[in-house]
Amino acid sequence: MTVSSAPGKVYLFGEHAVVYGEPAVPCAIERRATVSVEPRADDHIRVTARDLSLDGFTVEYSGSTGDHPDVNVPTPLVEAAMGYIDAAVEQALDAASRENVGFDITVESEIPLGAGLGSSAAVVVAGIDAATRALGVELDPREIAERAYRAEYEVQDGQASRADTFCSAMGGAVRVEADDCRTLDAPNLPFVVGFDGGAGDTGALVAGVRDLRERYEFAADTVETVGDIVRNGEQLLADADPEEPPTDELLAELGNLMDFNHGLLEALGVSSRSLDNMVWAARMAGAHGAKLTGAGGGGCIVALDPTPETETGLRFTPGCEDVFRAELATEGVRVEAGHAGDTPTEGTAE
Ligand code: MEV
Repeated sequence: MTVSSAPGKVYLFGEHAVVYGEPAVPCAIERRATVSVEPRADDHIRVTARDLSLDGFTVEYSGSTGDHPDVNVPTPLVEAAMGYIDAAVEQALDAASRENVGFDITVESEIPLGAGLGSSAAVVVAGIDAATRALGVELDPREIAERAYRAEYEVQDGQASRADTFCSAMGGAVRVEADDCRTLDAPNLPFVVGFDGGAGDTGALVAGVRDLRERYEFAADTVETVGDIVRNGEQLLADADPEEPPTDELLAELGNLMDFNHGLLEALGVSSRSLDNMVWAARMAGAHGAKLTGAGGGGCIVALDPTPETETGLRFTPGCEDVFRAELATEGVRVEAGHAGDTPTEGTAE
């Protein structure tokens, strides 16, 4: 069995605008998805998922997920989870030049599904790594990022940037602008995450921004302005010493930009009442800045605060279900267990 894990992420700046070629700066966080893979002798895929914001389920099928699994959990969530796993398997088989190989796959995730913390990217990145290793092929993290992007692009009907998958594969803070993906030297920022217990529909939210952008010039300008915020933010990071804790001055400036970024995302229609409530609660508690993270519509906000005040404030905010401090994950995709080349031969699997 091969086991790999990959981190989730928060967006310091730039979600949505990155889909239209503006830069974005996501940062990997120490909440990981772990995928275990065991090749089978037949072409069946058997998936057991735990903690994927689901109570846990096991499904087995052959061919594609077009054969709908019969499980007692909400269909859209299962379809989303299965779609990503299927696309990851397809990429792994392609990378290993294999076909008709089945797998037993177990997904264990600390990242809530669809909540803006990059759960699908982490599952796809870890899944491609574990499945290729199981077939005796070792991919460079950049190739895993590229293949994970193709998988997400396919599942999300072409509405995906490289930001989530590159960040999850590489770890740390990254900068993505179209197909130009780089790692950044950034100080460890004091992220506090608030989660409303909900999820957003990434495809619908991205489509909503696309519509607005096509309909109104000022919406297209708003998307470009998000790009300006990102360029300002990355300059601040470039001027900071990555080895030292961030200064209050740096946090204050980054926080202002995060507040501005949230305002523009709100204008683009991707915030929600609970996200706005949590953003305001964080600001009132003394956070340097706060914004939604990811696609929006529900899910998580990220705030900057080295003190415990924002965590306390959010804990008492109606509608905020969970609060945690998120450490920067300096490691991206990594092997947790197992070795390459353990594909069973025909007829040997149970
Ligand atoms: C979703 O985590 C981030 C979006 O920018 C979509 C994407 O970049 O693929 C909304």
